[in-house]
Amino acid sequence: MPKIVTLPGDGIGPEVTAAAVQVLREVAPDLQFEEHAIGGGAYEAHGDPFPQRTRDALADADAVLLGTVGGAQNSPWNSLPRPLRPESGLLALRKALGCYANLRPVRVQPGLEHLSPLKPELARGVDILIVRELLGGVYFDGDRKLDGDTAYNTMRYTTPEVERVAKMAFWAAEQRKGRVTSVDKANVLEVSELWRRDVQALRDREYRSIHLNHEYVDSVAMLIVSDPSRYDVIVTENLFGDILSDLAAVIPGSLGLMPSASLGDGAGLFEPIHGSAPDIAGKGVANPAAAIMSAAMLLRHGLKRSDAANSIERAVALALREEPTRDLGGKADTKTFTNAVLEAMGTP
Ligand code: NAI
Ligand code: MG
Repeated sequence: MPKIVTLPGDGIGPEVTAAAVQVLREVAPDLQFEEHAIGGGAYEAHGDPFPQRTRDALADADAVLLGTVGGAQNSPWNSLPRPLRPESGLLALRKALGCYANLRPVRVQPGLEHLSPLKPELARGVDILIVRELLGGVYFDGDRKLDGDTAYNTMRYTTPEVERVAKMAFWAAEQRKGRVTSVDKANVLEVSELWRRDVQALRDREYRSIHLNHEYVDSVAMLIVSDPSRYDVIVTENLFGDILSDLAAVIPGSLGLMPSASLGDGAGLFEPIHGSAPDIAGKGVANPAAAIMSAAMLLRHGLKRSDAANSIERAVALALREEPTRDLGGKADTKTFTNAVLEAMGTP
């Protein structure tokens, strides 16, 4: 019985997580759920945004389903010392899990092209998976210094670090259209030369069915908004991935539609990318689609149950057309939308 640790967190986190758990219970009745505290609520209850009990629960978890953390702009949590603030709980959680690959699907749902800032003919059919390396590169590890009028950081990667994240991308591409674009800046960066060489060597050794190409990050920044349909899976290092994934996140046109997964060698972390939405928290109107699609990613990437994941994603696409939530210009509340998903899966 796979054990899923749920961390609903603050704001709309508990509302959207409950919806995701409801859907998971329907498609995977064997899952066992264990709920724990994180974020501002965890600080209130246990004096720590990432309590020891939560940390201990991760040890034998198969996957972690996270809601959101954080309060409103005027929340007293924001004047706590940094280590006690809600977002410190999130950082501690990510560190504890050691996830080195962040997966962000960017999908324009059929019928919701009008929400995209791109022209409908460009937005139609966009379905990209961005795989970002999460533990290396210039954000981590290296020698860094700010000294008077001079500062530097170090961008560093090793072959094993490149290969483990590239494997995730190739595996994901095998479930999709089989195309991977590796993004780098190999015309100026040594790190990118290593990146490109190792990704290509891994493809030639172990993933011959994958079509792999290499593109420069500046070119991708233009093409991802001017011709997004050219991409299937994009794999890239930490800094480039940070920027490209936020750029691409505006394409679907709503935060409420964006799930994510962070994967490592242990339990993966699955969460919507939106925040705790204090302006609508507790009203029962939050869009749970991102959380429910994160649950689908949990099944696909965390438990290798792609069929169940596909069935959830098909149902979400249908529900978005039939019962759109308020953030999408519709009328459905959290419960109505969730019921529409359950119904579309054939399990009312
Ligand atoms: P936000 O994503 O919470 O909200 C931005 C806007 O989008 C709001 O108008 C909100 O109502 C709307 N929105 C977001 N998710 C929605 C959903 N599922 N359904 C319907 N509407 C939705 O970002 P904001 O306001 O900047 O941050 C609020 C709090 O969330 C802060 O404390 C922030 O630190 C935290 N936060 C937490 C994240 C996490 O837990 N991973 C990520 C981003 C922000
Ligand atoms: Mg970012």
